[in-house]
Amino acid sequence: MSEGSKMTQVAWQGAGQREWAGTARTDASGAGSGGAIAPTGPMSPAELTDDSGAHPGTQRAQRTGEQARTGGEVILDLQHISLSFGGVKALTDISFDVCEHEVRAIIGPNGAGKSSMLNVINGVYHPQQGRIVFRGEERKQMHPTAAARQGIARTFQNIALFKGMTVLDNIMTGRNTQFRTGLFAHALWWGPARNEEMRHRQKVEEVIDFLEIQSIRKTPVGRLPYGLQKRVELARALAAEPSMLLLDEPMAGMNVEEKQDMCRFILDVNRQFGTTIVLIEHDMGVVMDISDRVVVLDYGKKIGDGTPEEVKGNPDVIKAYLGTSH
Ligand SMILES: Nc1ncnc2c1ncn2[C@@H]1O[C@H](COP(=O)(O)OP(=O)(O)OP(=O)(O)O)[C@@H](O)[C@H]1O
Ligand SMILES: [Mg+2]
Repeated sequence: MSEGSKMTQVAWQGAGQREWAGTARTDASGAGSGGAIAPTGPMSPAELTDDSGAHPGTQRAQRTGEQARTGGEVILDLQHISLSFGGVKALTDISFDVCEHEVRAIIGPNGAGKSSMLNVINGVYHPQQGRIVFRGEERKQMHPTAAARQGIARTFQNIALFKGMTVLDNIMTGRNTQFRTGLFAHALWWGPARNEEMRHRQKVEEVIDFLEIQSIRKTPVGRLPYGLQKRVELARALAAEPSMLLLDEPMAGMNVEEKQDMCRFILDVNRQFGTTIVLIEHDMGVVMDISDRVVVLDYGKKIGDGTPEEVKGNPDVIKAYLGTSH
């Protein structure tokens, strides 16, 4: 899929936003800044495979394997990953890859193992089995800070910001892994430390401009509506200048307008900076519109992998979403 065509595909209509069965979110945080998206119930198998009505108002291209923008080389290769917590098998023998510059979605019903997978990718969880190869190097027991230094940044399913700190200061924490001079020099605001901090502040200001949050830069994060907090979290991740961005439900609990904005920002990041995006999202309209490839998990197992069109027509995927209750 061409980069230019992506933005045009994110056309929205308030009515008709749907989530697949078993994925509707009704948590209180979903109120957001402008009201929650009402879950609209399960789609029928016919609807699921019917392009004409899948996402009203969206001019979606018919994508095939050839058209998917997967031309970039594989930068992350996950092979036979298994992860257990005691008796709970969160991930079982999962393999998939991520190509440079693509938007790769991970979808699946609640508890499918999506967040666990992101935690494996950025070194929070260490799988008992499997290989992780990132940019040609097999990774051993990596710590999240090492992942950050390798250019992997993330946002969290539940917002993880310092609520009492300003937007500006929160975003500045995203630069932590980039600091080169010592704490002592910074405390004295001296020489190289001063220059370095000026550089960091400049980068942070660029991110603030990019995400259009100038007006709230001095506001404590805790006072912001939910949708804006999500944007600040994205800003903090971007401040690290990642080459790979892991987004765990960046649009959960947002209203249609906020989702539209977030989609635009994600695609702008992908297009303008070439950042590879790995995205967990429950809103199938969003997934189908902005992803190049989709991997589908269910009960910790991979049940589908391909372009949005391929995945949407996969009988196992349809069954997982419509044939079982979780
Ligand atoms: N730290 C943990 N300790 C114990 N069990 C865990 C832990 N993290 C995840 N799990 C379990 O692993 C399974 C997968 O959880 P995970 O959070 O990855 O699912 P998910 O697909 O992100 O779900 P959701 O859509 O609800 O966010 C669940 O059964 C969960 O309870
Ligand atoms: Mg999750």
